[in-house]
Amino acid sequence: MTTTTTRKGMLGYSDLTDRDLLELNELYGANHYKHLKTVIRKTLGSWLYTRDGRKVLDCLAAYSAANPGHHHPKIVKAMIDALQGNYASVISNVVYTDVMSLFLEKVSTMVPQLGSKFGSNGNKTLAKNGGVESVDTAIKLMRYFGYKEKGIPDGRQEIIVYNNNFHGRMITVVSFSTSKKYREGFGPLTPGFRSAPYGDLVATEKLINDNTCGILVEPMQGEGGMYRPPDGFLKGLRELADRYNIMLAFDEIQVGLGRTGKTFCFEHENIVPDALVLGKAISGGLVPLSVMVTNRALMDMAFRPGSDGSTYGGYPLACSAGLAALDVLKDEKLAERGAETGRILRAKIDDIASRSSHVKEVRGRGLFIGIEVKNGDAMVYCRKLLDLNMLANDSYGHTIRISPPLIISDAEIDYIAERLEKVLVD
Ligand SMILES: Cc1ncc(COP(=O)(O)O)c(C=O)c1O
Repeated sequence: MTTTTTRKGMLGYSDLTDRDLLELNELYGANHYKHLKTVIRKTLGSWLYTRDGRKVLDCLAAYSAANPGHHHPKIVKAMIDALQGNYASVISNVVYTDVMSLFLEKVSTMVPQLGSKFGSNGNKTLAKNGGVESVDTAIKLMRYFGYKEKGIPDGRQEIIVYNNNFHGRMITVVSFSTSKKYREGFGPLTPGFRSAPYGDLVATEKLINDNTCGILVEPMQGEGGMYRPPDGFLKGLRELADRYNIMLAFDEIQVGLGRTGKTFCFEHENIVPDALVLGKAISGGLVPLSVMVTNRALMDMAFRPGSDGSTYGGYPLACSAGLAALDVLKDEKLAERGAETGRILRAKIDDIASRSSHVKEVRGRGLFIGIEVKNGDAMVYCRKLLDLNMLANDSYGHTIRISPPLIISDAEIDYIAERLEKVLVD
């Protein structure tokens, strides 16, 4: 059954049937995702292709990883150049590489001064692989700040997080998830987190005590249901962090880098955090890469040789992709395009919602749009959308997540609207 050939010109890697591939997954893969039974063999721009040549519009963009579209030619070229030029492979971090140095500079200087109350020192960047690793780095930074700068006894540091947060799946991060399915049976869990309702400043302030060293928050919640907090929430957090001398860290892994119509989601409220976590789109969706960025003084305070590290974190191939992806973000004005196409798509979705008996609420910003359905089961609609050659999935069960690549064209916006009309309007 597993006899396969790979050949030039064939769609994808192998000529195995979809059924064979599903069987292989079931036999050899962990059962940790609820799959839609579709096998994708090739991706390009905003489109996904199946073995029989069916074209599916990608309205998920790998949860914002594929913001510049799949296989963006400039990012692909940068990676091919790195591979063919023999500067792509991982090298021990005891030496420097030019590509990593340039990537660290690019990220540190494109982000506005973080933690300005700690001085106008510029920013520094620490690179990792998957997003959750950089969330972990931000947690370490805030805990060390509490220990070193605030004199909190080591082991007593507390970080405030939010109900329905999603920051990844590793043990420390799931320890403060409020979703049972992420935590159950995986104890002992990591202590030191307190959770407030998302958007609630009064509840946040009540959780602050002498051991609080930081606040970790998504400026908009992705997995938690595509929620935008009330206007003024992020500004209020900034004020609380300043008043109580605690650090404010934003996880923009899903909502950063143009997704909500600004390069950084925090720009909507005109405030700047002390630490910022970015991932997913930072490599244009071609290789795992994530970063934690903070004020130079804070980074130097918290990390010394041996206190952090990762074999592949910021390895040359990833940094080559990262440099190209950040150029594409700027040169192709992806944030501005996302703002504009987001406005057009949102108007169409609002119109559909006004005529639909299925829609409870539409919310979001830029090309990060959630459609909450009345029956609470968004996947019912997502499966119908897939039958109409459009890939979307649910957020928090009840909300259809619409987050296509930021390069989406006017014709593709119409394509989405036509299909939403078909499944949402009786
Ligand atoms: C806001 C947020 N933080 C962290 C993560 C974890 O990133 P990764 O899956 O790359 O570890 C995600 C992934 O969806 C996310 O949306």
